[in-house]
Amino acid sequence: MLSARTLFTEILDDDRSFRLFCSIAAGGEAQGGWENGRIAALVPASQRAMAPKIARHGTDEDKHGRIFTALLRKRGLDAVPVPPDTDYTMLLERGGIGLAHSRLKRDEPLTEADIVTYLAHSRVTEQRASEQMRLLLKHFEDHPEVGKAVRAISRDEDNHLAYCHEELLRLSAIGHADTIRRILREAAHAEIRIYRDVSLAVMAHMGRILGWSAPRALALRLGIHAVYLYERCGGWRRMVTLTMPERRNAMGGPAQEDDAALEPA
Ligand SMILES: [Fe+2]
Ligand SMILES: [Fe+2]
Repeated sequence: MLSARTLFTEILDDDRSFRLFCSIAAGGEAQGGWENGRIAALVPASQRAMAPKIARHGTDEDKHGRIFTALLRKRGLDAVPVPPDTDYTMLLERGGIGLAHSRLKRDEPLTEADIVTYLAHSRVTEQRASEQMRLLLKHFEDHPEVGKAVRAISRDEDNHLAYCHEELLRLSAIGHADTIRRILREAAHAEIRIYRDVSLAVMAHMGRILGWSAPRALALRLGIHAVYLYERCGGWRRMVTLTMPERRNAMGGPAQEDDAALEPA
């Protein structure tokens, strides 16, 4: 039977697919951490109050990268290079979504418009991260090996999403509403395409490692295309709404270190 649960169980149970899964995840998180760290360092004076929150966002993503690396270590595995076609963060950046790395490498303060771009981009990608972690949480909350990591990361991704909503509503109220609407739309449309392509690439790699039959691989590809079709035909709208979160100031205060999730078994 083809379900998220059986699929992930299969990936977790084989060292080679587990290694690829954790390597891809660790790479994406570390890249997110670097981006947020740079943005925090370059916040313009007008948005100075956001700097610690963006820094905390970066610290969280770095921590997620370390959690995935720790999961590998606990099994005695090393990370493998991330295949370029599975590199979601790199493909988003290459697609012009968010702030370009060349810009972030320059030691020049960002503008308020850049901060709007960063947050709108994050609103879309954090929705994806939050949904993916909730799916893992649903099936693996109590898994002896990955449960703790999944719980810690899922809680953080929900916080990141809440923070994006709150900050974008604040920036909308001070005159950026039209720009935010436009960027959210563009980012969502690009993200759903890149997410589809990355999903197809990840499943192709997993299928080769795990020796999936042609019908099984085909069924998975069709499933990914069906998700894209749903998102293209309206599902994308869930990624562009803005509602005040129940949890305010989710990025206030220092990051929780989740030592438990990082401890070797
Ligand atoms: Fe993350
Ligand atoms: Fe996140």
